[in-house]
Amino acid sequence: MRTHSVAYLPGDGIGPEVCDVARRCVNAAGAAFGFNVRWDEQSVGGRAIDESGRALPPATLEACRSADAILLGAVGGPRWDDPTAAARPEDALLALRSELELFANLRPVTAHPALAAASPLRPEVRDGADILILRELTGGLYFGRPQGREEHDGVESVVDTLRYTRAEIERIVELAFELAEGRRGHLTSVDKANVLASSRLWREVVNEVAARHASVTVEHALVDSTAYLILTQPTHYDVIVTENLFGDILSDEAAAIAGSLGLMASASLGTRTTAKGRLGMYEPVHGSAPGIAGKGVANPLATVASAAMMLRLSLGEADAADDLESAVTAAIEDGPRTADLGGSDGTEAVAGFLLARIGAGLEVTA
Ligand code: IPM
Ligand code: MG
Repeated sequence: MRTHSVAYLPGDGIGPEVCDVARRCVNAAGAAFGFNVRWDEQSVGGRAIDESGRALPPATLEACRSADAILLGAVGGPRWDDPTAAARPEDALLALRSELELFANLRPVTAHPALAAASPLRPEVRDGADILILRELTGGLYFGRPQGREEHDGVESVVDTLRYTRAEIERIVELAFELAEGRRGHLTSVDKANVLASSRLWREVVNEVAARHASVTVEHALVDSTAYLILTQPTHYDVIVTENLFGDILSDEAAAIAGSLGLMASASLGTRTTAKGRLGMYEPVHGSAPGIAGKGVANPLATVASAAMMLRLSLGEADAADDLESAVTAAIEDGPRTADLGGSDGTEAVAGFLLARIGAGLEVTA
C-alpha cells in the first residue's frame, strides 16, 4: 500500500474542526483508492505560543520539512492579538513560507451556479467565472528588510521594504505560464508599474518568460483597476499572477465571486520536489474565525478542497483528488448549508454528506 506522510497542523479557532473533517475525508479516500496517510500532528500558532512561547516550535518545522505535505487549519485569535507581544501566531505562517520556500500560492475561485444567492454579484456577471490566482508568497513587503520603526534626530518613522530578486520573479512567473497552459491559456500579470520599480522589473520578466510560452495570451494590468474589474468582469480572467501583498488583497476580494470565504482553498507550493510531486502546504483561506470556534458550525469545504489539492499536487493521488472534489461539488450543489452560505446546518452534517460520497462511485464499477 502507498503511504504518505502529512504534517497535521490544525492550529487555532475553527482550524481543528475543519481539519478533522478533511483528515477523515482523506482517510476515506485512502481506503477507497489504496493508500495510507500517516498524520503527524504538531502545534502551530496561538496554541504553540501557549505551550512553548513560540508560534512555530522547532519540532513543528522539522515535521513539516520531512513530510510529503502539510495540512494547516488556521492561526490566530483575539487572545494573541496584543501588538506588543513577543510572539504572534501569524509569525508561524510567514516562517513556514520562508523556511520551506513555499513561493507559489494557488487560490482558485469558481462561481458555482448553485451559490448564486450567496454572492453579491448578479448571476449574469459571475456565471462562468473560473479564476486561478497565483500569489507570490516569499518576497515583497512581507519579507523585505529593513522593516520596523526608526528614530533619527527625534523624528520617528517606520519602514517596510518591497524587495524582489529577478530569480524570485522568474520562478513564480514561469509557474504561472505553465498553469495557464493547462487551463484556458490566458494570463493576467497584475502590478503597479506606473509607480513601483519592483513592478517594472516584474513586467520585464513576464515579457521575457512569455517568449518561451507562445500559446499563452498575456496581458499586464494595474492592481487598482484589476480590483475593480475582477468584480465587474470576473469571467475575463483565467490565471492571475501577482506579487505577495497584491495577491493577498485580490484573493480575499475574489472570494465574493465564489460566494463565501468559506469555500476558498489554497495550496502553497515549495521548491522541493519528490517522486510524488512538490512539497506543499494546504490550508483554507478563511482563517481562524474565533467568533464561531467550537460551536460546530464552521464550513469545512475550503479545507476539504485544500486537501484535494494536496492529494493532487503533493501526494500524486489524482484519482482520489478528483473524487474528493466531486464530493465537494455535490455538497455545494445539494448538500447541507452552513451559515456562511445562508444555511443553518452544522459542520458534522457537511462531513457526513461528504463521507457518504467518497469512494462511492468505485463500488458501483467494481
Ligand atoms: C493569508 C493571510 C495571511 C497573509 C496572514 C494571516 C499573515 O491573510 O494567508 O492570506 O497575509 O498572508
Ligand atoms: Mg489574506
